[in-house]
Amino acid sequence: MMCGLLECEICGIAMKVYLETLGCQMNRLDSELITGQLLGAGYEIVDAIDTADVFLINTCSVREQAENKVYSRLGREAISPRQRIIGVLGCMAQRCGAKLLRRYPCVDIICGPGQLHSLGEMIAQAAAGNKSVACDPDRKDGREAFERNSSIDSLDHDRDTKVGSSAQAYVRVMRGCDKFCTYCIVPFVRGPEISRSPEAICEEVKQLAGAGRSEITLIGQTVNSYRYTAGDMSTRLSDLLERLAVIDGVRRLRFVTSYPTDFGDDILKAMRDLPNVCRYIHCPPQSGSDRVLRAMNRKYTRAEYDNFVDRAYEIMPDVSLVGDFIVGFPGEEESDHQASAELIRRSRFKNSFIFKYSTREGTVGAKTLEDSIPFEVKRQRNNELLAVQAEVSLAHFQSFIGREVELLVEGPSPLSGKPGNVSDDPNCVQMLGRTTGDHITVFQGPESLAGQYVKARVTSTTAFTLFADLVD
Ligand code: SAH
Ligand code: SF4
Ligand code: F3S
Repeated sequence: MMCGLLECEICGIAMKVYLETLGCQMNRLDSELITGQLLGAGYEIVDAIDTADVFLINTCSVREQAENKVYSRLGREAISPRQRIIGVLGCMAQRCGAKLLRRYPCVDIICGPGQLHSLGEMIAQAAAGNKSVACDPDRKDGREAFERNSSIDSLDHDRDTKVGSSAQAYVRVMRGCDKFCTYCIVPFVRGPEISRSPEAICEEVKQLAGAGRSEITLIGQTVNSYRYTAGDMSTRLSDLLERLAVIDGVRRLRFVTSYPTDFGDDILKAMRDLPNVCRYIHCPPQSGSDRVLRAMNRKYTRAEYDNFVDRAYEIMPDVSLVGDFIVGFPGEEESDHQASAELIRRSRFKNSFIFKYSTREGTVGAKTLEDSIPFEVKRQRNNELLAVQAEVSLAHFQSFIGREVELLVEGPSPLSGKPGNVSDDPNCVQMLGRTTGDHITVFQGPESLAGQYVKARVTSTTAFTLFADLVD
């Protein structure tokens, strides 16, 4: 990486960088990689914005609300008396480009997700008084332009595995998306679907596991569509899981997010047969109605989604399924909405993420569909699906009462030490861990268990949290 100007010209002290992250796992991983890159180049990363010379915000464009957060953040920074270098990174930088510089003259750096390897250099340029914009090619320029002009995995490749303090680590197996759901901005901001080579992924996982990162989550927008072809050799996600599961130190393997039509039995069987692959599938249906699925350009029917759910439970009766839904999609009628509620019940999801439809400029939906559902109806349907899901979640969580579970301990729970959560034993606090199915579980235990795997027996539950006692 090119060496930048790292120090304040006047006092000679390393420049302090504050990095804020919005959006999905892709952004969280990118932020971890940037942190490693900047630390390696001599910048200091700080936890408090007040002390920072550089403010970076890694942004998300998936819904209007996500972008509004960034506008209000930049608005505040624009009137701050403190002169900082300001960088907008990620999906919104890609979507808005140089327009953001015109709207917010306080911004110095615009850096799209495939250009983050240049960030150190861009900060150095900004310190010298030059603004810079680095975006990925337009999708219309084709896949080759992406492969030539954006870094597919150079940041991942040079990863500092010691950055990131927890036992958990994300690993990118693919970039971009080729599905073009009519509501979604991701294919435009993250570019075409490109899978990384299994060799590069295995090497990265070996390094991470060697550094104590024992729970690996493979990420991709449609992670189960992973396919890498070299000559006449093709590697699917199930093949990759087999190769990664045998790496020393990999105690748990997860993958998110899946697309329903690409969920073959080969993946389900690999999950069943490989003991360290987690019993967890996040595979969003988006809607339970064929009419809406068609308008969304989701490439499956309701019956096909039901078939995926049936196969998943048949092959792994103890799997936890997780869904995403969009409520208030243009033209969604009450009967369509009820079909989504019924899908939640039938699929027995562990939990679901429910979003109100938000028009995204540049998508097919924005050009051809009128955002016809009033906000109040969206809000009501959102609440209704949440209520149905809460009932279904409670039944799912109750099935764990009395069972022994393995937990990866994250640390003290956010409620630890609060009234009702004070332990009788002075050496114990309320700790939080997760099961293989990603159930949040709390128990009384010493803080020293953070990062370790423990066995616990479930004693009670709510719709969101298991309560357990440590098993000796
Ligand atoms: N790649 C993943 C999801 C990416 S975005 C997948 O295909 O499953 C995460 C979630 O945001 C989506 O599953 C969808 O439910 C929601 N979402 C995406 N675009 C949206 C929009 N325009 N309005 C509301 N929700 C949206
Ligand atoms: Fe967006 Fe659809 Fe791609 Fe998911 S599959 S990222 S929802 S276009
Ligand atoms: Fe948001 Fe970009 Fe992820 S739009 S959801 S941060 S890929």
